[in-house]
Amino acid sequence: MDVKEAINKRRAYRSLELVEITEELIKDLAESAQIAPSCMNKQPWNFVFIHDKEQLERIFETLSSGNKWVEKASLIIAVFSKPENDCIIGERLYYLFDTGLATAFIILRATELDLVAHPIAGFKEEEAKKILGIPEEMRLITLVNIGKLSKEINPFLSEAMKLGEKSRPPRKLLEEFISINKYNPK
Ligand SMILES: Cc1cc2nc3c(=O)[nH]c(=O)nc-3n(C[C@H](O)[C@H](O)[C@H](O)COP(=O)(O)O)c2cc1C
Repeated sequence: MDVKEAINKRRAYRSLELVEITEELIKDLAESAQIAPSCMNKQPWNFVFIHDKEQLERIFETLSSGNKWVEKASLIIAVFSKPENDCIIGERLYYLFDTGLATAFIILRATELDLVAHPIAGFKEEEAKKILGIPEEMRLITLVNIGKLSKEINPFLSEAMKLGEKSRPPRKLLEEFISINKYNPK
């Protein structure tokens, strides 16, 4: 699979079925993040790979009500960092950008391995941090939920989410977010 194929194949599917999580898989995904670019090579990202059943169940308790589908995830990657771990240039803080880049590499690699890798923001940050032992000063940015795509639509999904399993949610037109040579606000 080439990069463009992985970009096109990646979807935030919500109907997951269990998949075996091996040390090899965790290492493979972590290595994809390891070589991501970052400002002055600061590598601000941190990840906890959660696959222990009891620890997963504790994390499930922190999810927003619309995210019950996550309970079928086999692996959750908690992504965290803090501003001081990366370049701060005037008002530009790079930790979220660089950690997001590394996370995107993980998501694309998981896609290539025929897994669903779905990031979410809908969880209680402080509770999840306590469960995972993540220090107070860190921002728990996202939980990336990994599983195998199920043919059966998850019954917990809303009607809108069910539609999302069948086709990609609509995107802005290119003209709405790109300009050529000079910014042309729309
Ligand atoms: C930062 C971030 C937070 C998200 N939070 C949630 C979430 O809490 N629950 C959920 O079901 N999907 C969540 N999503 C998935 C988006 O809804 C999804 O990516 C978007 O609808 C586009 O669909 P697609 O990724 O399949 O193209 C999140 C995605 C990102 C990148």
